[in-house]
Amino acid sequence: MKNFEIAVIPGDGIGREVVPAALDVLNTIAEVHGGLRFHFTSFPWDCDYYVQHGKMMPDNGIETLSNFEAIFLGAVGNPQLVEDHISLWGLLIKIRREFEQVINIRPAKMFKGLASPLINPRDFDLIVVRENSEGEYSEAGGRIHKGDDEIAIQNAIFTRKGTERAMRYAFELAQKRRGHVTSATKSNGIVHAMPFWDDVFNQVKRDYTNVDTSSYHIDALAAFFVSRPQIFDVIVASNLFGDILTDIGGAIMGSIGIAPAANININGKYPSMFEPVHGSAPDIYGKGIANPIGQIWTAKMMLDHLGEEELGAKLLDVVEEVTARGIKTGDIGGKANTVEVTEAICQGLKHL
Ligand code: NAI
Ligand code: MG
Repeated sequence: MKNFEIAVIPGDGIGREVVPAALDVLNTIAEVHGGLRFHFTSFPWDCDYYVQHGKMMPDNGIETLSNFEAIFLGAVGNPQLVEDHISLWGLLIKIRREFEQVINIRPAKMFKGLASPLINPRDFDLIVVRENSEGEYSEAGGRIHKGDDEIAIQNAIFTRKGTERAMRYAFELAQKRRGHVTSATKSNGIVHAMPFWDDVFNQVKRDYTNVDTSSYHIDALAAFFVSRPQIFDVIVASNLFGDILTDIGGAIMGSIGIAPAANININGKYPSMFEPVHGSAPDIYGKGIANPIGQIWTAKMMLDHLGEEELGAKLLDVVEEVTARGIKTGDIGGKANTVEVTEAICQGLKHL
C-alpha cells in the first residue's frame, strides 16, 4: 500500500469549497485503485488566522510543512480583512520561496464540453513553464521621498542559475510531450535581462537537439495565444511574462475556474505545492457554485508529481467526460453546483 502524506491549506473564500471537492475526488481514486492511500492534514492558515494571530501562519509553519510530500492549497486572499500583498507574501510566496519552488507550471488546452471564447479554437494543448523565484518579482528596490519627488525603483533579477534551470525544465518536459519549446523574450525593449535570457536559451538548447525551438517577443506571443494557440507545446517564460501568459491560457480555455498550477521544487529537498490559478473569488463565496475543476485538475498535477501519471491522465479524462455531458458550473455555462460536478466526477471514476 502506497501512502501519500499531503498537507492541505484550503485558505480563504472558495478555497474552502473547492478543496474539499478535490479531496473527495482523490479519496475516490484511492478507493477505486485499492493500492494507494492519501493521508491529508489540514492547516487553517488564512486571513481569519491573520486577524487572530497577526500572521498568516505560525512561526514554525514552514518547518511543519517540510515533513509532507506535497502541499495542496486552495486560494488565499480576503481583501476585506487583510491587504492582498500581506496575505500573498505571508503564505503563498513564503512557501514558494522557502521551499525553493523555482518552477511554476500551468497547462492550458482545448477542454471537451467547454466553450472557448475563441471563434475557431483549434485543438490547442500547451504548458507554460514559468520561472518562479526571481525575475521581475523581486524585493530588490525601494521607495524614497514623498509627493512630487517620490521615486520607486523595482529591480528585476535574472541569474544564470535561475534562468537555466527553468529552461532545462522546459526542455525536459518537451521531450515527454511534442518536442517543442518556445522562449518568451523581450530583448528588443528590455536591453540587459532579455538579451541575457536569449543567450542562455541558445546555450541550453544545444543540449536538447531532439527538441525544436522558437523565440517570440512577449507582446507577439501573447497575441499568438489568442490567434493561434495550437502552435505551442511548451513555453518558457520569466516570472512576470509567465504570470500574464497563463491568465490568457485560462481565458482561452473558457474560464479561470478550470486552470490548474503547480509550484515545483526541483532539487527534491522540499515539498512542491499544488494550487489552482484562480483566487478566493469572494464575489461567489458561500453560494456553493464555484467551479471545482481548477482544483481537481490541480489534484491531477499532484498525482503526476507523485509518480501516478496514469491515474492523473484517467482523472482528467473523466473530468472532460463530465463537462462534455453538460454537468458544469455557471462560469462555464452550466447549471450544476460545486457538489453536483464533484459527485459526477466521483461517479465517473467509480465506473472506470
Ligand atoms: P479570482 O480568481 O478570485 O476571481 C476572478 C473572477 O473569476 C471572479 O469573478 C470569480 O468569481 C471568478 N472565479 C474564480 N475562480 C472561480 C471558480 N473556481 N469558479 C467560478 N468562478 C471563479 O481573482 P480576484 O478576484 O482578483 O482575487 C480575489 C482574491 O483572491 C484576492 O484576495 C486575491 O489576492 C486572491 N488571489 C489569490 C490567488 C492565490 O491564492 N493563488 C490567486 C489570485 C488571487
Ligand atoms: Mg496571475
